[in-house]
Amino acid sequence: GWDYPYFYLYHDIWYPPDRIQAIISFQKNFQAKESDIIIASLPKSGTTWLKALTFAIVNRNHFSPSQQNHPLLTSNAHDLVPFFEFNYYGNNQIPNLSNLPEPRLFGTHVPFHSLPDSIMNSKCKIIYICRNPFDHFVSFWIFINKVIPPSLPKLSREEAFERYSNGVNEFGPFWIHMLGYWRESKVMPNKVMFLRYEDLKGDINFFLKRMAEFLGIPFNSEEESNGVLESIIELCSFEKMKELDANKNGKFVQKYENKNFFRKGEVGDWVNHFSPWMEEKLSKVIEDKLGGSGLSF
Ligand code: PPS
Repeated sequence: GWDYPYFYLYHDIWYPPDRIQAIISFQKNFQAKESDIIIASLPKSGTTWLKALTFAIVNRNHFSPSQQNHPLLTSNAHDLVPFFEFNYYGNNQIPNLSNLPEPRLFGTHVPFHSLPDSIMNSKCKIIYICRNPFDHFVSFWIFINKVIPPSLPKLSREEAFERYSNGVNEFGPFWIHMLGYWRESKVMPNKVMFLRYEDLKGDINFFLKRMAEFLGIPFNSEEESNGVLESIIELCSFEKMKELDANKNGKFVQKYENKNFFRKGEVGDWVNHFSPWMEEKLSKVIEDKLGGSGLSF
């Protein structure tokens, strides 16, 4: 059943109650391999985009990013890069992941401090994406209201905002989530790459190259002159992905319609949804929680 807006506080993080079991199982059972690549994020931060980009970069020698039958043209990015806590560990079973082709690509919304020891002790790589909290809030609030069953009341903007600024939303508080990966990316830059949605929007070409370098598979000069980067950017663009049948139809974990993962795909849409007091309050929260950390938007 649907239990929104009730959450379960576990290790300082507010989880949807139906995820707890999966997260504990993931923590207990997952065995990392050095070649693993993990896409980490808060929901509604650019996860779908980053999964697509990473899949395209990693598999570019098997699937040319310009080929007609590229998997990203026929499959949803969350099917190609499944989440630990929704997909693999989400159905009360311990999956056998040891035979997946390498490098294995995974997604997770679990915060850095709750990742399994096995990930911490392995040389596997993590790419984290976050988004400015203004746009993040808007994206999340609109998404929630699209997926709330018609029998339940909509979540008002004010109530959603009150919760968000107090840290009470899926996998929140956002500041704990962001700072955990942010700090680790400073301590262990070879393990955690930290990206912002706004970075990718601002200079996708630059960050695509940095991602490939981070993953140990930099683009060579031939690829750069043959338009491989441009093809990947196009393949993973919001406009392209939004129009695919695989993304217009179908459901994620039999629950959320794929089409709801594609809304506007812009930076700055928050101005259309914030009142002055909300802007002031969230700015204060950001200053309070992230000030001095070096992380800014
Ligand atoms: S989820 O549930 O965690 O997978 O959601 P997530 O993908 O993190 O966030 C959804 C927002 O990302 C936008 N989006 C994209 N932006 C740019 N490029 C691509 N390819 C792309 N795909 C999805 C999506 O529209 C949501 O943002 P908003 O602001 O609501 O449009």
